[in-house]
Order: sequence, then C-alpha cells, then structure tokens
Amino acid sequence: MAEETYILKKRAAEETLKYIKDGMVIGLGSGSTVKVFIDLLGKKISEEGYVIYFISSSIDTSIYASSKGLKETTFLEHEPELAVDGADHVLPGLVLIKGGGGAFLREKIVDYYSKEYFIIVDETKLSPLRDSFKVPIEVFPQAFKLVMKKVLEMSEVVNAELRIAGRGKLGPVITDNGNFVLDLYMVNIKDWEKLEVELNSIPGVLENGVFAKKKPSKIFVGKKDGVVVLQET
Ligand code: 5RP
Repeated sequence: MAEETYILKKRAAEETLKYIKDGMVIGLGSGSTVKVFIDLLGKKISEEGYVIYFISSSIDTSIYASSKGLKETTFLEHEPELAVDGADHVLPGLVLIKGGGGAFLREKIVDYYSKEYFIIVDETKLSPLRDSFKVPIEVFPQAFKLVMKKVLEMSEVVNAELRIAGRGKLGPVITDNGNFVLDLYMVNIKDWEKLEVELNSIPGVLENGVFAKKKPSKIFVGKKDGVVVLQET
C-alpha cells in the first residue's frame, strides 16, 4: 500500500477506534483498511489491557485479528453491538459497493446483523463511478453458467466475468464458503436497494456486493486534511 494511502486509512481508523470500549464484541470486515484498524486495536489491547471479542467475515481477518490479540467468537454466543468494515466505493446516500476481497457474503452478515456498522475508507473510495462499474455476486458453483445467462438478461448488466484467482491457484477464485464470484459490469443503476434485492432473488446467487438496504451509521473518510464523517441526517 502506498504510504500516502496508508496515512489516510490510519487517520480514519483512529477516529473509529474512539468508539471501541473495553470488553466490546465487534464484527470485523476484511481488507487492507480493516487491517489498519486491527493494528490500532491490537496496540490498545497490548498497551491498555483491553479485551475485545470479534466475529469475523473471513479466514484472512480471523488469522490477522487473532495474531493481534483479539479473541474470536461466533454468532452462537454473541450479537455484536458494532461492526467495522471497509468498502470499494461509497456512493451518494451512503450506499456501498463491496467485495473486492471476495468476503462480501460474510461481511454482509456481520454488518447487517450487528446493531450498527461503521465504514472506514480513504477519500479515493468516494470518486464517482465510471460509466461501467463492477458489482460482484457470490454464486453456487454448480449454477454459475446458468446465473451468468440470467444476469446477462438484465438491462443494467453489460458483461459478466468469472473472477479468476491470482498467484498460487489456477482457475476461479473459491471463496471462504466454497463458492465462485462473478463480477458484473453494470450501467445506469437508478435504485440500489432494488438491485440488491433483485440480484439475490436469482436462484444460485448467494449474496451480492451492494450494501444499500442497511446503511452504515457512520462512514469515516480519511482525507489529506483530516477526517470527514458521513452519516444520515
Ligand atoms: C472485501 C471488501 C473490502 O472491504 C473492500 O474490498 C475494501 O478493501 P480495502 O480496504 O483493501 O480497500 O469488501 O470483500
């Protein structure tokens, strides 16, 4: 991560940290920004003796947060009062597009089932969407070809690609849940809540990366000249 971006993420994560109290159960998203937040929280644990429990959204977050002294728990034991997550895009109306790290199925569970959730981003995540932009869906492997055909019938979808793994694995990305990810190239979305519901109504689609139905209570945006907090008025 470029030093400049790291500073913006850290600035926003520091503000978020002010809401974390000793003994709290939190939900944790995934990605590089969440890791910056976990680093700060880990420091608090070692310096001030805080005990923090977390419900994880990915194997990556479980490993990282555990290594920093946070204690993993599950929804069987706890319902988090707060979740902290990152995002790929923040759109007007506090709508998010997530899923760059392929963890959005569990992130949505963690974010939507916590009492409230906060988002941490650097200001680049606020840039307007391009004419065509990516929205990911997690798909049951057996159905991926059929789902691909179905989504291509939607007027807003101009293309759909099976997400391919990078280094260390041939073929498609396999999520922590054993599924595939399709990246949909979309245009002209008028109603994000409707899109979120519509995508999930396709048989074989397990979740999508639009977070519009439950809004984050606060979005901490790290900027060059400080931190801005976006929230519903
Ligand atoms: C993972 C996500 C992440 O929150 C999103 O990709 C942001 O990641 P980063 O903080 O590394 O920019 O949705 O599924």
